[in-house]
Amino acid sequence: MHRAVLANEVMHWLAPRRGGVYLDGTVGGGGHAGVIAEAIGPEGRLLALDQDAEALVRARAVLGQWEKRCTLVQSSFADMAAAAAASGVEKVDGVLLDIGISSNQLDDPGRGFSFMRDGPLDMRMDRGKALTAADLLNTLPEGGLADLLRRYGEEPRARAIARRVVQERSQAPFVRTAQLADLVMRVYGGRRGRIHPATQTFQALRIAVNGELEALEKGLEAGLGLLAPGGRMVVISFHSLEDRIVKHFFAEHQGRWESLPEGGQKWVGLTPPVEVLTRRPVMASEEECQMNPRARSAKLRAAERKD
Ligand SMILES: C[S@@+](CC[C@H](N)C(=O)[O-])C[C@H]1O[C@@H](n2cnc3c(N)ncnc32)[C@H](O)[C@@H]1O
Repeated sequence: MHRAVLANEVMHWLAPRRGGVYLDGTVGGGGHAGVIAEAIGPEGRLLALDQDAEALVRARAVLGQWEKRCTLVQSSFADMAAAAAASGVEKVDGVLLDIGISSNQLDDPGRGFSFMRDGPLDMRMDRGKALTAADLLNTLPEGGLADLLRRYGEEPRARAIARRVVQERSQAPFVRTAQLADLVMRVYGGRRGRIHPATQTFQALRIAVNGELEALEKGLEAGLGLLAPGGRMVVISFHSLEDRIVKHFFAEHQGRWESLPEGGQKWVGLTPPVEVLTRRPVMASEEECQMNPRARSAKLRAAERKD
């Protein structure tokens, strides 16, 4: 079962108001969406997106009691402007992005996200897309694969893993998650410590298959564009690559004073301007981490559109 992370913190920073219009770009199991739907009351509107059709089926069931105020759409949050326009939504009072994968996706061996459960090497959140993790592993040249593992997984043994993949795929193509988890384990010469050695390799492939970093950049732009002045954007990320993108995006729109060579200073910043509400990322309490270990790596940042 998927538990919504940082649920109280999301409500605090998003501060949904009765009658407001909100966009949840990652409805997943509908945990956050249910709390928002309750808070906005019958006059409010919640546009809830997910690129995973199976997540939408679950979310629809969870949100059933607030059905009239919710619109669920299968879409990437990168395309939220088009989804909003098609749903007759022009401006919103808040945008929530709780990115990454859900426990429902991770726990289903058939989706191929987990090195703990054997399944097909798939990893697509949107199963309508063509490219799978197996396609990448079986076709990328060694250098390209090493780059991917380094860039998206920050994997220190990227070259060795890529070399071994290329050697072994000439015997038989990669089709199962267990094949890849076993290969990485052999490169590392066994398991050391709490973290499975295939963690970063799986993260890297998942990010590449789903174009996650590009989608995040587009989603942040689109979300800020949809916000009405005074509206808020709340983003929860689960690893440093994502958090860095969110932090920089907010900082660039918050702007800063820059010294001029001729003396004096000028204000530089991207528009529309925002006020960053969370100077440091908000993290889950120890109590929440005990109940939900996934919460340990969650970082929440929030910003308010100024005009
Ligand atoms: C961490 S879960 C969200 C959980 C949700 N907040 C809840 O309370 O149940 C992330 C969800 O975002 C979806 N997702 C990830 N990237 C997406 C994207 N670019 N566009 C739309 N949905 C995306 C995944 O399919 C997954 O269902």
